[in-house]
Amino acid sequence: MARSIAIRPAGQGAPAPRAAMPFAPGPSLLTSLPPLSVYVHVPWCVRKCPYCDFNSHAAPDELPEDRYLQALTADLDQSLPQVWGRKVVSVFIGGGTPSLLSAATMDAMLALLRSRLPLLPDAEITMEANPGTVEASRFADFAASGINRISLGIQSFDDDRLRALGRIHDGRAAREAIAIAQRHVERVNLDLMFALPGQTLDGCLADVETALSFGTEHLSLYHLTLEPNTVFAKYPPELPDDDTAFEMQDRIEARLAEAGYDHYEISAYARPGTRCRHNLNYWEFGDYLGIGPGAHGKLSFHDRILREARVRNPQSWMDALLDPAAGATHLAESRLVGAEELPFEFMLNALRLTDGVPAASFAERTGLNLATIARPLARAVERGLLDEDPTRIRPTPLGRRFLNDLQGLFL
Ligand SMILES: C[S@@+](CC[C@H](N)C(=O)[O-])C[C@H]1O[C@@H](n2cnc3c(N)ncnc32)[C@H](O)[C@@H]1O
Ligand code: SF4
Repeated sequence: MARSIAIRPAGQGAPAPRAAMPFAPGPSLLTSLPPLSVYVHVPWCVRKCPYCDFNSHAAPDELPEDRYLQALTADLDQSLPQVWGRKVVSVFIGGGTPSLLSAATMDAMLALLRSRLPLLPDAEITMEANPGTVEASRFADFAASGINRISLGIQSFDDDRLRALGRIHDGRAAREAIAIAQRHVERVNLDLMFALPGQTLDGCLADVETALSFGTEHLSLYHLTLEPNTVFAKYPPELPDDDTAFEMQDRIEARLAEAGYDHYEISAYARPGTRCRHNLNYWEFGDYLGIGPGAHGKLSFHDRILREARVRNPQSWMDALLDPAAGATHLAESRLVGAEELPFEFMLNALRLTDGVPAASFAERTGLNLATIARPLARAVERGLLDEDPTRIRPTPLGRRFLNDLQGLFL
């Protein structure tokens, strides 16, 4: 069995497409629709980090913020019939580096969303930020516009590690950014990566201690992965060996548990009551509309489940939306999810959660009877990967450790 590692959330990403056998047309299969979230992708960064495979591009001298907003408006307007009347529980403005945008653009983006979609009064509205782009006055404006959660890409506080990662900020800027974010919004998440080039166990634990010293309610700890088509894949840096990396993971888990954080998902740790609602909705197989270049979406209807992806290139996405006469589309993919794909898609998300999900949510979210997966469920229980409790689909500690094997049973 291959041991799993702390990987990044699937987020707006969708699993690889396979041939779809759509639901047979006919009676309603989903008796109720899941909660709806909105993901907005901002594709620019100051520069591209060598390990990063996100749809992020080095920013031009001047960001085309007006054009981007116009295209976002068109993207949203074209999507509205798909989500008509549905309330929005969370918004996640991710990237790239959304904190590069001006306060005026962020304000206009939030006004756009509010004018078209019924956001719940307590909707969680997260913005991702790179510490190298944090200024107090702009962050005050972001908060005044309605951003109530900031997720900071800290990665490490160690200047040598940050240099090896090609980051645009040092440890001091990371600390200052946290203080500014905490001054302006109630909820702050810090992204840290571990098993970094040249990192020792002590160095990793020192990063965790520094993060804890700020008392933020949420931490995400990602094992650095070498992603295909990145600079690090082509020129791999020297990384800690597997045993050291696993020891880092174990020690991080122990230290954060001691500090009162629930390890509620592979890479996510939160103080009670502060889990990320937006990501939880992905993992609980909720719905999300994704707008902006490269954004993915999953939308349920009473008789079908649709997956969409926007074209990745920012220029092509803007051109397609703003010059429809040219005949290009802003959609790279729009397809019905086949009934035979749903069990694996559901499990790919749900099994990331330490507590799993209620067994009943399988039928609620997929429209399929739980009996369709009785065999792999039984096999997973037999192998000690899944809890025996029939009311929940919950991985055991062994199942979490060998998550890929557990998920694979549902393929
Ligand atoms: C979109 S970025 C966060 C905001 C901003 N772009 C930044 O980097 O500061 C999302 C997070 O994914 C994580 N990440 C990116 N590439 C990764 C990789 N190859 N392995 C593990 N984590 C990665 C980083 O922790 C990063 O903060
Ligand atoms: S700043 Fe964030 S999104 Fe941009 S390249 Fe670096 S890790 Fe990727």
